Amino acid sequence: MKFAMFASGDGSNVQAVLDACRQGNIKAEPVLIISDQPEAHVLTRAERAGVPHFSAHPKDLGGKEAFEKEVLQKLRDHEAEWLILAGYMRLLSPILLVPYEERIINIHPSLLPSFPGLDAVGQALKAGVKMTGVTVHFVDEGMDSGPIIEQEPVRIEENDTYDSLSAKIKQIEHRLYPDVIRRVIEEQ
Ligand code: GRF
Repeated sequence: MKFAMFASGDGSNVQAVLDACRQGNIKAEPVLIISDQPEAHVLTRAERAGVPHFSAHPKDLGGKEAFEKEVLQKLRDHEAEWLILAGYMRLLSPILLVPYEERIINIHPSLLPSFPGLDAVGQALKAGVKMTGVTVHFVDEGMDSGPIIEQEPVRIEENDTYDSLSAKIKQIEHRLYPDVIRRVIEEQ
């Protein structure tokens, strides 16, 4: 089983998945890492892990459509069968959604359908909820709206700050995402 990962930033979730593959906990091969931010730290992680990567600012390729067409070609060149999104800050268009229908997964730092979109941690703190969490879901054309695969709650304590809550959420993500990916792939 070959898969590609998409990320726009640090890539700590990508790292957790790469580590799980290296340790044999996910029996699949990461064949390509894609970023829309050529300076993103995730590319250093790809480099260190020896995983091929492709990055470009979509506007430099003539826009999102041209970028995704180029990405699709790379995915085909590397025979990627699944797409794993981890902090990829763009919606996918049908150029990628159609060929990979039901084979795209995303992780989001809230209990969806609460707090979709940007800054889910900040949204939860602002709303004053006592419980938030992590969701892993299939990707469709909407914003964090596809069928939910797994969720895990995180309690927001009185003394939690943005940073402490983010850290608790990340810690869960790094365990949950590799675990769900392993399950989904094994069920194939
Ligand atoms: C994670 O919180 C993930 O849920 C969200 O974006 C963040 C990416 O973090 N979609 P990182 O780049 O994996 O550290």
